[in-house]
Amino acid sequence: MTRATIVLLLLAIFFFSSSSSQCHDRDKKALLAFKDSFLSTSLDDTWLESTDCCSWDGHVLCDKDTGRVYYLQFSNDKFSPGVRVSLNGSIPASVGNLSALEVLMFSDLPALVGPIPPQLTELKKLLTLSIIRTGVSGPVPPFLSKLSSLRKLDLGGNSLSGAIPPSLGSLTRLSYIGLYDNRLTAGPSRPPSTAN
Ligand SMILES: *[C@@H]1O[C@H](CO)[C@@H](O)[C@H](O)[C@H]1NC(C)=O
Ligand SMILES: *[C@@H]1O[C@H](CO)[C@@H](O)[C@H](O)[C@H]1NC(C)=O
Repeated sequence: MTRATIVLLLLAIFFFSSSSSQCHDRDKKALLAFKDSFLSTSLDDTWLESTDCCSWDGHVLCDKDTGRVYYLQFSNDKFSPGVRVSLNGSIPASVGNLSALEVLMFSDLPALVGPIPPQLTELKKLLTLSIIRTGVSGPVPPFLSKLSSLRKLDLGGNSLSGAIPPSLGSLTRLSYIGLYDNRLTAGPSRPPSTAN
């Protein structure tokens, strides 16, 4: 091998190894649309078009090989060590484009309001859906039964109302369901909270 060949090889290795953790284009577009659809959010300074979305620490994790986002977390819990965020508005439809997502978590976000969007059913790989202590309201949607991979569903501490849809019984892989501290009329929840 000539020296030039070796240099080219090294460059190629460097290029491929560094580009492998770059955010997938489709996911980046979806995340930027996600950010833009809130009335206000504290993400404006960190979620920038010019940066790799896999480096949006504390909120986003990507698969090293595919660059697809598999983990998305938002919390404003002052007792948890992670990055705190504020989100004002409802869960945007663009979340449905993050089709490799396995974990989606929102917690301690009182200004996160509105219903659980139907686009969530496009997340066929979702293992954990956690929306806790937010202002999210409306019914526990029957369409959640389409999330056939789901292991954990935690919807505690919101303003959800109505009955618990029987269709959730078809989520055979579910090992945890939390619906405590809502305004539900019946079902597998804790005794009525005295705080309400
Ligand atoms: C979602 O994906 C579709 C194609 O599947 C694309 O046309 C649309 O622009 C995407 N939306 C966002 C917000 O990324
Ligand atoms: C959310 O945004 C709306 C519109 O800008 C504003 O009226 C409201 O006070 C905000 N709520 C919170 C909790 O920040």
